Amino acid sequence: MVHQRADSRLEWWKCCSIYQIYPRSFQDSDGDGVGDLNGLLSRVDYLAWLGVGAVWLSPVYRSPMRDFGYDISDYTDVDPLFGTLTDFDRLVAALHERDIKLILDVVPNHTSDQHPWFVESRSSRDDPKRNWYVWADPDADGGPPNNWLSRFGGSAWEWDARTEQYYYHAFLQEQPDLNWRNPAVRFAFADVLRFWLRRGVDGFRVDASAVLAEDPLLRDEPPNPDFDSKTPPPERFKRVFTDARPETMSYIEEMRAIIEEFPDRALLGEVQGGIDRIGQFYDAERPRFHLPLNFLLLDTDWDATSLAAGIDQYINAIPDDAWPVWILGSHDKPRIATRIGIEQARIAAMLLFTLPGTPIFYAGDEIGMPNSVISSEEARDQFEALVPGYGLNRDPERAPMRWDGNEKAGFTSGEPWLPLGDHVKERNVAAQLSDDRSVLSLYRQLMALRQTEPTLHSGQFQPLRSQSQVLLFERCSDDRRLLIALNTTTGSHTVALHDRGMLRLSTHLDRLDEPVASQLHLRPNEGVVMEMLTSSL
Ligand code: NOJ
Ligand code: MG
Repeated sequence: MVHQRADSRLEWWKCCSIYQIYPRSFQDSDGDGVGDLNGLLSRVDYLAWLGVGAVWLSPVYRSPMRDFGYDISDYTDVDPLFGTLTDFDRLVAALHERDIKLILDVVPNHTSDQHPWFVESRSSRDDPKRNWYVWADPDADGGPPNNWLSRFGGSAWEWDARTEQYYYHAFLQEQPDLNWRNPAVRFAFADVLRFWLRRGVDGFRVDASAVLAEDPLLRDEPPNPDFDSKTPPPERFKRVFTDARPETMSYIEEMRAIIEEFPDRALLGEVQGGIDRIGQFYDAERPRFHLPLNFLLLDTDWDATSLAAGIDQYINAIPDDAWPVWILGSHDKPRIATRIGIEQARIAAMLLFTLPGTPIFYAGDEIGMPNSVISSEEARDQFEALVPGYGLNRDPERAPMRWDGNEKAGFTSGEPWLPLGDHVKERNVAAQLSDDRSVLSLYRQLMALRQTEPTLHSGQFQPLRSQSQVLLFERCSDDRRLLIALNTTTGSHTVALHDRGMLRLSTHLDRLDEPVASQLHLRPNEGVVMEMLTSSL
């Protein structure tokens, strides 16, 4: 089924809901226990049925898989584990036939240490590619050049005995940072982008985009004032000299210019540094990202007061004409259904699809997938091995998708690469397809509502005062006013309304088109969308 665009004047990346797929964990087709492109291809009708307008696909490039694809050894080929370029082309075609866009994850900050560029670069100090990476001499004592720490633990500098210099890696030591100051690197990367744009991808999600450039003076980072015994050691210093440097902004502008060579493409960016810095990543004068990714909903305490404050802070931190974006899940963050519970996960879904801006969710969120419980012995994520004991393991949110209630959940015929986790019987696609009050049904209805309600795309956002931990806001256009009321508690609450309205959707999916006069009764964990019938509150 092809969904009608609600407002044809808006660019696609403003109207559509974006669905992140971690390819290892979506659908296996060949029994090796790891998801692949042909598996994904067999599920495109599901995506169309669900109503997503774009897929953001985590990396499928050739990779030694130390960081499961975020360590790339060839930017212009598909890893055999996932399939071939031909499979990729088939996938693009199948998605486009269903009016679904494809956003590819790209990783410009670093390559794998197996990438031929790095192999050459480390071969000798005189190699023409030496300056493609960030090399530095030891400090006076023979130690690393400065105090910079890898996000994945330990010094960010790795000693190369043969050429007697250190190379810099913001992440794993097997992920050396490219030297973006070198124009040759930027040209090479522009060609990588063009390679995929010509193959028909509709945009990119730029990985770790804020850390492309480091201070050329290699100055030490200052102490992090929030650091205490519970803070993971890599956060000991504030990343002043390695995050969101002005040069990084200009490199993002260059990537944007490449995108603009092709019609109708979009640039998304993973940006570091918190809400106060996010506005920088738009910039109307010198266009940067269309959508700098905002993780606020995953980082805010889950109560109406904190949410109202966080939403306000974010909206105020971005330029007036900037398009907001909201994320409910990712392969790097604990699952929402585990963090706030399955009942509140419905509230989170309603919030995601009714806030102003583009909603992004992570495959499995639509069935309320929980984190998988993974012991440290079973951990596959290097982050856990390198910085143990802080709950940083990302395997729990990377567990395979559940398509049915069978032993392997319809994900594979072999041994899944990570354990499936709990609640497979009720939290799987097949079970929820046949339940018209399931989380899956809610997601589908919310996306359908967004498609038919232009006010949810382009209407004004009007925050209201929360009542008894019920989060309240309105979306208004010339002729319509929608009230969204989200009960973030496990008790019932009555909200006083100044106007009459018609209840259009409840997160419980059991009441529809109910008239509501001056009082709106909300049951525990209930959220509603109401169409208001008279003038404003
Ligand atoms: C951000 C990605 O989302 C994460 O999974 C990865 O480990 C780092 N970037 C390094 O590439
Ligand atoms: Mg496979």
